[in-house]
Amino acid sequence: MENNNWTHIPVMGMKIAETLLLKKDGAYIDGTLGLGGHTKYFLSLLGPAARVLGFDKDINALRMAVKNVNDARLAAFNKSYEFIPQVLGELGLPGVDGVLLDLGVSSYQLDDGRRGFSFQSEGPLDMRFDTGAKLTARDIVNDYSVRELEKIFTDYGEEPSAAKIALAVFNARRVKPLETTADLAAVINRATPRRGKTHPATRVFQALRIAVNDELGTIERSLKFLPDILNAGGRAAVLTFHSLEDRIIKNIFKQLAADGKIKLVNKHVIEPCFEEVQNNRRSRSAKLRVIEKI
Ligand SMILES: C[S@@+](CC[C@H](N)C(=O)[O-])C[C@H]1O[C@@H](n2cnc3c(N)ncnc32)[C@H](O)[C@@H]1O
Repeated sequence: MENNNWTHIPVMGMKIAETLLLKKDGAYIDGTLGLGGHTKYFLSLLGPAARVLGFDKDINALRMAVKNVNDARLAAFNKSYEFIPQVLGELGLPGVDGVLLDLGVSSYQLDDGRRGFSFQSEGPLDMRFDTGAKLTARDIVNDYSVRELEKIFTDYGEEPSAAKIALAVFNARRVKPLETTADLAAVINRATPRRGKTHPATRVFQALRIAVNDELGTIERSLKFLPDILNAGGRAAVLTFHSLEDRIIKNIFKQLAADGKIKLVNKHVIEPCFEEVQNNRRSRSAKLRVIEKI
C-alpha cells in the first residue's frame, strides 16, 4: 500500500484503503461513488475476485464514474446509499467487508454552474444531487417562511446572521422571485458584512444544499444499519467535511459502540496530513471515522 504519489489519489485515499481493505478479494461498497476516484484506487489494490458496489444519486456522476473506473468488478447503482440494505437483499448478498461514505458535494458538481451548488458559478438555484427529485433550492428560497429559512440557515449552516439573511431573502423575493445563485448571493452580500476569510454566502449555500437533499436525515438513517450489512470484522469509513456532520457521525458511532454492535477503530478523528492539505485544498477540512463490526 506504499504509494507516495498521492496527489492523484482521492481525499485520504491511502489512509482509507489501509484501514478499510482488509480482504483482498472482499466485497465493498462505495456509497458515494462520485466520479469513482476512491473506487478506482481501491480496485487498483484489490484482487481479481473483489467487487465494489457503487452508489450515487447523481446519474451523470455515476455514468462518468463507470467510464472512469472501467472495471468489471464495479457494479453501479443510481440510488441513495440509504437503500444499500434493499440492494444487498435483491442481490442475495448477506453482508460486505467494507463501506465508504465520502459525504457532501463533489468538485465536479460544484464547478458545474447548471447544478446551482456554488455562488461562485452562476446558475439556477437547484442543488439537487438527484436531478429527478422534486424539491430544489429555488422552492425553499422562494416558498419557505422567514422562520423556516432562519432555522435552515442556523441548523445546517451555523450562520450567525441567519435571521437577518432570512428576512433579506423574504424582502427581496417580494419584489421578484430569486432564480439564480447570483440573485441569492447578492441578497446575502447586501445583508451581511464579510467576516474573515469566509464569504457570507458559504454557510447559507451549504445549509440549502443539506436541506434540499435531506443530507443529515439520510446520514442518521443509514449509519444505524451499518452493523447489519457488515460481515464480522468488516469496516465502515465515513469521511466528512464540516463539523455538523462529523458530530452526528461521532454520536451515532458512540451509541453503536455502547450497544456492543461495533468497535471504534480510531478513538480520535483522523485528519489528512499537512502534505496532503498542501496538495489538495478539498482535503483541508476532511475528517475520517472508522468502525468495525464485532
Ligand atoms: C464527495 S463526492 C464523492 C467523491 C468520490 N469519493 C470520488 O473519489 O470521486 C460525493 C458524492 O456523493 C453523492 N451523494 C450525495 N448524497 C448521496 C446519497 N444519499 N446517496 C448516494 N450518493 C450521494 C453526490 O452526488 C456526490 O457525487
